[in-house]
Amino acid sequence: MRMISIVGARPQFVKLAAVSRALRERDEEIILHTGQHYDYRMSAQFFDELAIPTPDYHLEVGSGLHGAQTARMLEAIEAILMKEQPDWVIVFGDTNSTLAGALAAAKLHIPIAHIEAGLRSFNHTMPEEINRIITDHLSERLFCPTETACKQANAEGITHGVEMVGDVMYDMVLQARAQIEARRQPLQRSLHVSPQEYLLATIHRPVNTDDPVAMRNIAQAFNALAMPILFPLHPRTRSRMEGYGIRWGSHVRLMEPLGYLDMLTLQQHAYRILTDSGGVQKEAFFLGVPCVTLRAETEWMETVEAGWNVLVGSHPHAIIAAVAQAEPKPPLHNPYGEGDAAKRIVRSLHLGKL
Ligand code: UD1
Repeated sequence: MRMISIVGARPQFVKLAAVSRALRERDEEIILHTGQHYDYRMSAQFFDELAIPTPDYHLEVGSGLHGAQTARMLEAIEAILMKEQPDWVIVFGDTNSTLAGALAAAKLHIPIAHIEAGLRSFNHTMPEEINRIITDHLSERLFCPTETACKQANAEGITHGVEMVGDVMYDMVLQARAQIEARRQPLQRSLHVSPQEYLLATIHRPVNTDDPVAMRNIAQAFNALAMPILFPLHPRTRSRMEGYGIRWGSHVRLMEPLGYLDMLTLQQHAYRILTDSGGVQKEAFFLGVPCVTLRAETEWMETVEAGWNVLVGSHPHAIIAAVAQAEPKPPLHNPYGEGDAAKRIVRSLHLGKL
């Protein structure tokens, strides 16, 4: 079959790597990169490191307001789909690139496979929530990472084509184990940190970055923590923080965005991870590291229910208290599948209509 995979933002490149490997064993895949993320460290680095084939199309849409950015993508994707006439359009997650790909395909009656379907934060002020809901309702196949996600799709009246396959990011973590181990010593030597003696933080959600009070609260908490904090910065987080004039203690080490394997390696050996990223919450769980989530809600409730993730918003005292909590008991089961999600997705696409 002939597939078009549409990606554009950093977390999608990791998911694409897993799916593309499985897909290319038997299908023809065309990769379309919208160019939503364009800095080397946010994009090309992932293609290089994960050996993802060079995109066949690169739209270079760049940054912009949500409507303008999505519209630029939509127009270009429509033209490419009309030319390529794929059997399936594959979209990933919840970004503006996901939405544009799904909308373009739906109008041309090309079936859509949505990977990481059925997730909800129930917070409609998040752009990602809007993107997810629309994409799920337009898709022929909803490949869900958890049973909860399948149930949510069903609860919204989507009963056909919903399938629990597991999480493609879990596939990737399992495949990266040996590379993580090989990077451990050189990375820790170059950063002068020891296992279990540092915290790792990432922040990029608008709910935090676009709110000076939230960012100042987070800075207050980080500055009060004793351990070194490695803090790779999304370009938008860096520019907002500079605008707010936030000062960080010398133990808070602001860094450039990390590649996938360095990020996993630093996650694996961190004492605790502090994040507002969805993907990082899950990776912390896969790697057995307690996570403190700087948001009020999460799409990944299984990690919270298992005791490995604590939701603290941006409240300084809650952040500090969560970091000090004892390590939880090992989880009883892994709700994210068997590490073969990508293979299941490809197999399922070949079965035709469910
Ligand atoms: C997007 C996704 C979000 C995902 C995140 C991962 C949407 C609605 N959001 O948010 O779900 O978790 O990616 O990183 O699609 N910028 C750069 N260089 C880049 C890319 C972005 O400097 O390579 C800066 C620009 O200032 C830009 C801003 O980041 O204006 C926002 O980029 P945008 O494409 O809106 O996505 P994210 O905010 O990164």
